[in-house]
Amino acid sequence: MALIPAAGSGCSGPSTPPPRVDSRRPANSEVEWDGFDPRAYVQHNYSVLRADDRELLCRIRDFFAGANISEVRCVDVGSGANLYPALSLLPFAQSVDLCELSMSNVGWLRTQIDNYDGCWDAYWRVCAEHPAYSALADPRRRLAQVGRVLRRSVFDLPRRAWEAGTMFFVACSISADRMESEHAVGRFLGALRPGSPFAAAFMLGSSGYRVGQHWFPAVELQRAEVVASIAAGAHDVDMYEVRPTPSLRDGYLGMLLVTGRSRG
Ligand SMILES: C[S@@+](CC[C@H](N)C(=O)[O-])C[C@H]1O[C@@H](n2cnc3c(N)ncnc32)[C@H](O)[C@@H]1O
Repeated sequence: MALIPAAGSGCSGPSTPPPRVDSRRPANSEVEWDGFDPRAYVQHNYSVLRADDRELLCRIRDFFAGANISEVRCVDVGSGANLYPALSLLPFAQSVDLCELSMSNVGWLRTQIDNYDGCWDAYWRVCAEHPAYSALADPRRRLAQVGRVLRRSVFDLPRRAWEAGTMFFVACSISADRMESEHAVGRFLGALRPGSPFAAAFMLGSSGYRVGQHWFPAVELQRAEVVASIAAGAHDVDMYEVRPTPSLRDGYLGMLLVTGRSRG
């Protein structure tokens, strides 16, 4: 994914400039999350499978396939309007809980888990390049069977409830407050039972993003800050950084994928 950057390049719809930088740095609770437009978000970020998302998906596919898990309780936190983290968990899942705060995204997710749109087939085809995934004949039906959408904040997740998890572009992109970003990582890792495999993705250096008509805040995270927040709650950590093609867009420095196991 590539969140619409501060400069607003490459986005459909009227070109409204981002609001002035708010020196108060909006907290998560101050943002109108129900104004998030899932269709505009999918259209911009996921309607065509990009090379960077393909790379991230291959890596999480291989990670979960090698994690020695079966029939486990899975969670995707801050699912928004992205199904590929949930798809990456599907062959190993007894259940997949998609936790999301925004009502508009919750509504979108509920229709999608019943029968997801054709654009997600390209993502599943990438998964199905691995035998652990191709063994699952009907991922659409399987997601409808095991998926469940919960309106739940990352800050209110129960502790040690799940056995595998994903959280993509959430801790970096739900607030402009660094402490909240760190707290979100801690809550995500704490929601997993000790030793659970997880994958989390972060925008680095993001200055915020626009979805449809709404502007959303971000924290300009550096790689070292992500490393520190993950290290506090995980072991066997691996990182992979994707740098965007310079000509593609501005407003962020890159994406960081982190995989590992939650700490006890
Ligand atoms: C940048 S989007 C990422 C969406 C998706 N995971 C992806 O990979 O594209 C951030 C998401 O976090 C959600 N969100 C905002 N505050 C949240 C909170 N406190 N708890 C859970 N999700 C939250 C937003 O509604 C939005 O769907």
